[in-house]
Amino acid sequence: MNILIVGSGAREHAIARALHASSNPKVIYCLATNNNPGIQKVCFDMQVVDINNNDIILRYSKLNRIGLAIIGPENPLANGVANVLTEAGIQVVGPTKDLAKIESSKSFARNLLLENNIPACPKYKVFNSIVGVQKFLNELGNDFVVKYDGLAGGKGVKVSGDHLHSHGEALGYCEELIGMGGKFVIEEKLIGQEFSMMSFCDGNILKHMPAIQDHKRAFDGDLGPNTGGMGTYSDASHSLPFLKKSEIKQAQKINELTALALKNKFGYGYKGVLYGGFIATSEGVKLIEYNARFGDPEAMNVLSLLKSDFIDICKGITGGNLKNIDVHFRNRASVCKYAVPKGYPNKPIKGEEIYVNNIKNPDGLFYGSVNLDEEKIVLAGSRAVAVVATEESIFKAESVAEKEISSVGGPLFHRKDIGKKALIQNRIDHMRDIR
Ligand code: AMP
Ligand code: GLY
Repeated sequence: MNILIVGSGAREHAIARALHASSNPKVIYCLATNNNPGIQKVCFDMQVVDINNNDIILRYSKLNRIGLAIIGPENPLANGVANVLTEAGIQVVGPTKDLAKIESSKSFARNLLLENNIPACPKYKVFNSIVGVQKFLNELGNDFVVKYDGLAGGKGVKVSGDHLHSHGEALGYCEELIGMGGKFVIEEKLIGQEFSMMSFCDGNILKHMPAIQDHKRAFDGDLGPNTGGMGTYSDASHSLPFLKKSEIKQAQKINELTALALKNKFGYGYKGVLYGGFIATSEGVKLIEYNARFGDPEAMNVLSLLKSDFIDICKGITGGNLKNIDVHFRNRASVCKYAVPKGYPNKPIKGEEIYVNNIKNPDGLFYGSVNLDEEKIVLAGSRAVAVVATEESIFKAESVAEKEISSVGGPLFHRKDIGKKALIQNRIDHMRDIR
């Protein structure tokens, strides 16, 4: 079968590798935004195009007789690429435009949960003018979050204490969003520990992946600006050291109820990866946001741990047959660390060469926002390369991942604390204090 990957970051490199490792016959194609050398290596053909143009994707898919497409990033899903490909008879891992609103509209996600009595939302209200904003802020006091109601590449959310230091600043940000013609959501700020629970979904059945913790802040100690994610870890138990079993179950249940709510609302089911961004609080597990795709870096953790055949899983998703498909992950801990260009995320340097020749385990190296330019690997402006180590404990995996990522040469930086004992103890202590 001819299989198309849309997107070309480290997440899509992980997808490409998992496809390549499958024992199913396949020819891999990629529509990319950068000339990713890792994806290129396993592809029959890769083209750099505008992946937000559905016509280009459809034309290329028809020309190359694509049978299955896997959509990596959120924007093509929000543009309805799954609708266009499905109408042309191509199987798609990734939801149609309506169902992708679970990620592309924060108010849609919140309202869906509320309408279906899924008890995972903080107090929230949706606005498209300044009317009522001050009143609601007064109700919330000092703990509030303001969110742009659309895709903003992780930059649309401002949290009190971190980005907004008074109601005045919050009102200013709301005015900015209104000026952009946007709807926005204001909600209660939740206190706890965040984690990701991703589930494969075939429209009816869900099969869950190991829980992961991502690290959004740029610098050690959770300092600095928000990023796409600097690194992640998962534990051999498939839970996390600061979570109770019941909290994992709650997150899985919320994903199941949400998939059912989507099916009931639209009359057809969600086919793809449903990614719940959760927070464990003193009052149980709550939803921060939904994503309609694999997480990046989370995909590198879970796909490195996957024991089962990834193409079988993709076919199970698109064919509505996931119930009969084996979905198992190794009982190993995983740590993923990203090396990002100096200046990332606000002013990343670009075009400089990086060196990966000291990497010991090339199977644990994932290329992200880099270009292959006449044998040189050069920075393309976002998260550059990631490494994943899988070992019997998080600390062992951390030590391997740290050595590997430190061996990458060039004007880069990474977080040294992800997966270290001190950071994890801090998470455990925090949960103990709030419980
Ligand atoms: P989002 O794009 O919705 O994932 O938000 C980005 C980040 O903002 C999240 O990873 C959280 O750290 C933070 N955040 C969003 N909503 C809330 C909330 N209701 N309470 C606390 N933190 C939040
Ligand atoms: N790891 C965060 C994201 O993929 O959105």
